[in-house]
Amino acid sequence: MAPRVSTDVDDALAVLRAGGLVAIPTETVYGLAADASDEAAVRRIFAAKGRPADHPLIVHVADADQLPRWAAHVPPAAATLAAACWPGPLTVLVPRADHVLDVVTGGRPAVGVRVPAHPLTTELLHRFGGGLAAPSANRFGRVSPTTAAHVVRDLGDVPGGVDLVLDGGPCPVGVESTIVDCTVVPAQVLRPGGIPTEQVERLLAGAVAPASGPSRASGMLASHYAPACPVLLADSVDAARVIAGREANPLVIGDTDDLVGYAQQLYDLLRRADDEGRSAVVAVMPPAAGLGHAIRDRLLKASADRAG
Ligand code: TXA
Ligand code: MG
Repeated sequence: MAPRVSTDVDDALAVLRAGGLVAIPTETVYGLAADASDEAAVRRIFAAKGRPADHPLIVHVADADQLPRWAAHVPPAAATLAAACWPGPLTVLVPRADHVLDVVTGGRPAVGVRVPAHPLTTELLHRFGGGLAAPSANRFGRVSPTTAAHVVRDLGDVPGGVDLVLDGGPCPVGVESTIVDCTVVPAQVLRPGGIPTEQVERLLAGAVAPASGPSRASGMLASHYAPACPVLLADSVDAARVIAGREANPLVIGDTDDLVGYAQQLYDLLRRADDEGRSAVVAVMPPAAGLGHAIRDRLLKASADRAG
């Protein structure tokens, strides 16, 4: 049965309070949310996504004042980043408070917390009062959803998949939050995202471990964010044209200097390639700066060898 789609926060509140699953709009991507203090509800998220049970979930809260409720203590780096970046596309890993459920953290000693910036979800979180555990609202290993229609297509047919989709329109950032592990000194960027890595480095006055290789948040597999068709990477627009010339029916993406627009459109374009039956996506890699870090990371994952 197709999930209900609503723009009414009252509907979402009722479902969450009854232990149900609501797809929530955020500025990054849609999340599949459950009451973070309701173990049975959180377990349903894993079943709906087909996600391994040891992959931890981010806890979404209404404002930065709630961070201490979820943390055993708040490391200085987390306090600095939260003050500067929330609401916004940043997740901090902090030592978990005792009450935080194992099912949320995958049994790890840290919990991921973020304050999303989307008017509907901000209202929902304020009125709900607690935290909402939510991964991206896609089937495991697939491209994250940036519209309500994406969520319905991914999870609509999964029995018990999602009870309600809170439709907040297309997500304005389009790639997931930047994840910073604040349980280590210096702090470490585990996943580049909507807050540029350079901004994290500036805020922490350089006290950030240098990023090496693709993102390392646990549960981030190499082959991820992938459409069904192959994704081929090009270093320049000219190189993309050459690669596309060898393809029967390619979709070329990223022929632009507008990284904000590239990030916003990225997941919709990857999905569209499959909808249109394209033989491949040929993606121009943006420069490794600003939002370019996140776009490059996702494209690398989308292009990773999926054999086996
Ligand atoms: O923008 C976002 O972050 C979106 C929206 C919905 O908030 N959420 C999102 O969640 O991308 P998800 O579950 O698809 O990706 C979160 C990543 C996963 O790789 C997970 O393993 C990692 O963050 N993570 C979450 N909590 C963690 C923890 N306590 N320790 C280590 N890694 C953690
Ligand atoms: Mg995800």
